[in-house]
Amino acid sequence: MTRPITIAPSILAADYSKLGDEVRDVTAAGADWIHLDVMDGHFVPNISYGPDVIKSLRPHSDLVFDCHLMIAPCDPYIEAFAKAGCDIITVHAEAGPHLHRSLQAIRSLGKKAGVSLNPATPEDVIEYVLDELDLILVMSVNPGFGGQKFIPAVLEKARRIRAMIGNRPIDLEIDGGVTPDTAPDAAAAGINALVAGSAVFKGGTAEAYRKNISAIRGAAQAAQK
Ligand code: DX5
Ligand code: ZN
Repeated sequence: MTRPITIAPSILAADYSKLGDEVRDVTAAGADWIHLDVMDGHFVPNISYGPDVIKSLRPHSDLVFDCHLMIAPCDPYIEAFAKAGCDIITVHAEAGPHLHRSLQAIRSLGKKAGVSLNPATPEDVIEYVLDELDLILVMSVNPGFGGQKFIPAVLEKARRIRAMIGNRPIDLEIDGGVTPDTAPDAAAAGINALVAGSAVFKGGTAEAYRKNISAIRGAAQAAQK
């Protein structure tokens, strides 16, 4: 079962002085989801933004808010992100000892539950939570910063996860260093959702965003099996 290619611009690469406009522009430019990177300066070596910022962006787009929590612990904050208007909430498998509980908490709030794996984390950590999942996010950089180079070794892991997923209705997403050059290998490995920060927001205008999104989408669609 092939799921449609979904492009999720990460506003980590947007102009923070006009985030509402950036979310509107990227929505009008053909994005499918808005990817929200939340960093705590503890689980990852950088700090971004939290639920209040996300709440303030919610009226600027009708798209799915795809929230990537790079925070530890995550459980005490899940409800705040749900209330802020996130539709998918993804936690890191490495962020706490009770992944199953975190996923249940997300679904109990009526949201879609995702798990993310750092480049060094093997796929077996999700073997027993597959039925609790709506999304699996394979990190193709070490999380914390935009603009890093894609790590090709994670493609083999993506292939294995795609096989584990089978016919379950789970999106397989990749995040980090995604460009029109790296998107084809990701799509060929079974990835259907592509996060891109720098490669979408380069150029700084709505017209540039449209071209950038369509270049990534076209490259991925051509390679999707
Ligand atoms: C990294 C973040 C990514 C990042 C992607 O920790 O999770 O979403 O913003 O940025 P690019 O596309 O620039 O690699
Ligand atoms: Zn992310």
